[in-house]
Amino acid sequence: MLNNASQLIERNINRFLAVKSLLVMGPPADDLINILPDVGIVTTTDIVAYEYMRSKNNHHGRVLFQEAAKVAAGEELYEAVLIFMPKSKDELRYRLLNAHALLREKGNIFLVGAKKEGIASADKVMATLGGKVLKVDSARHCTLWVTQPLKTAKPFSIADWESVYRAHVSDVTFDVCNIPGVFAHKHIDIGTEFLLQSIAPKVADFKGEWLDFACGAGVIAAFMVKTNPRLLMTGVDSSALAVYCARRTFELMGAKGNFLASDGFDNVSERRFDGIVTNPPFHTGIDTDYSITEAFIQKSKKMLKKNGQLFMVANNFLDYDEQLRQVFGNVETIAANTKFNIYMCVNN
Ligand SMILES: C[S@@+](CC[C@H](N)C(=O)[O-])C[C@H]1O[C@@H](n2cnc3c(N)ncnc32)[C@H](O)[C@@H]1O
Repeated sequence: MLNNASQLIERNINRFLAVKSLLVMGPPADDLINILPDVGIVTTTDIVAYEYMRSKNNHHGRVLFQEAAKVAAGEELYEAVLIFMPKSKDELRYRLLNAHALLREKGNIFLVGAKKEGIASADKVMATLGGKVLKVDSARHCTLWVTQPLKTAKPFSIADWESVYRAHVSDVTFDVCNIPGVFAHKHIDIGTEFLLQSIAPKVADFKGEWLDFACGAGVIAAFMVKTNPRLLMTGVDSSALAVYCARRTFELMGAKGNFLASDGFDNVSERRFDGIVTNPPFHTGIDTDYSITEAFIQKSKKMLKKNGQLFMVANNFLDYDEQLRQVFGNVETIAANTKFNIYMCVNN
């Protein structure tokens, strides 16, 4: 199975077979890796794509789950880099400068993506590296660009991409670390804010181990531990960038938290929590995708201790309350506004 951007690479595979060391950044969860030359490394910030590629590929060591690409031990700089278009232009700048820092002199940077991802105007971002940007090919609503940077590359450090914003929710103030590509870059999401305002009067009474499911930059976990420092917070997210930010958010607060990458509950499946709080995902890449949250609802009861509680924010046009009722046998709407409902369920 190949997605459209990967099919465009397949059409142009000879260009990549000629390369002696290739860095591939952010490919989708498909079988492209099996037709790429077995040289260099493939990096991803998405654990879903990482696990898919590892399960389908014989060269496991080549696929790395990292927040930023690095030169692999014993390797030199790369002759070419192939970047898959990320969700935002800010994240594209991040990947591009990461790629530039790892590229040999006179090396090529390729960028592939779909029209709906904004690939048509992405050449302008590539042009900031000083070289000409050429269109290699277009097909299946996708374009493949190439450039040979003329500017001198600067060393790449993820720390240079961190920004911090101050969040104020219900008299609680805390700093949130963010980097491009992480949900709600530079501001608290309005759904998350409404969720936190709605649970604020209850948090002081919470006890034990709580999970911030799909934690992003750790906003929910930070609010909870700032309100009730006795809570033991764990956070999971599929994005290495999100986990990086959530850890940094806790460092900024001087608080302890346990953040790990996980596709859904996969990497915490043996644990049971006193409570779960979530603003769950509704996208895969740029496409709307409710399946992750539906799977979350199905499994959430089993992740709770007896009398454990689940709090969740959802757009009010979704029927998650019905799905929650089927799983838990109870659901209460503890708050609602024109856009969102806040649901509470108990594992009783
Ligand atoms: C709506 S955002 C909420 C982020 C954060 N809790 C907040 O309120 O700012 C959803 C998060 O789900 C993560 N996500 C998407 N798919 C996932 C999956 N399969 N497993 C775990 N997390 C996932 C995304 O990376 C994103 O950070």
